Amino acid sequence: MVIAIDGPAGSGKSTIAKMVAEGKGFTYINSGKLYRAITLGCLQAGIDLKNSEKVIEFAKNIDITYEKDQVFLDGKDVTAFLHTDEIDRHSSPLSAIVPVRHIVNDLIRKIARDSNIVVEGRDMTTVVFPDARHRFYIDASADARAKRRFDQGVSNLSLEEIKTAILQRDEIDKNKEEGSLKIAPDVQYLDTSDLTIIEVYDKLIDKID
Ligand code: DC
Repeated sequence: MVIAIDGPAGSGKSTIAKMVAEGKGFTYINSGKLYRAITLGCLQAGIDLKNSEKVIEFAKNIDITYEKDQVFLDGKDVTAFLHTDEIDRHSSPLSAIVPVRHIVNDLIRKIARDSNIVVEGRDMTTVVFPDARHRFYIDASADARAKRRFDQGVSNLSLEEIKTAILQRDEIDKNKEEGSLKIAPDVQYLDTSDLTIIEVYDKLIDKID
């Protein structure tokens, strides 16, 4: 069974998806981490991210594995390096490259073949698993999302700068040629701006059960 969750950056969908996966005993897949890992790999290899051809070639040739919420590039665990301001900034335009999306989508579908999964991202409910048993869109205002990110204490940016960066990523995510962030007409929509994580979790579990 597939439980698919989409939403914008900082909406809390990763935390929720992880909790739901743990609660249900499903495998958790964070598709954003795959885009982030490819971004990191390109940066480490000195590839100009504006050069789509080179990025695609890199993504085709690197061995990417995802296990227990850890990402490996050619066997090396890169999970700890995926959530920096630099990767935040570069992963959005990289994820707009269509052949890169196909590589990531194939990988996720392969994992889904062998297990029950909770998968989250931007196009899980629309492109990758449009027929998933449960599909959710987790939303929150830009202010709420910026504050959550700021409170995590992992960014060197100010609250205002974080909000600006989030809005920039929203723009790119919503205007991609393929896999753009959108609310599917028949998805279960939840605005979490004024909800606690536990409240969101309870609502999802209620609907799933
Ligand atoms: O969810 P995240 O912020 O970790 O995702 C990192 C980047 O990857 C983000 O800019 C959007 C992109 N992404 C995407 O295009 N499609 C997905 N399914 C997941 C993430």
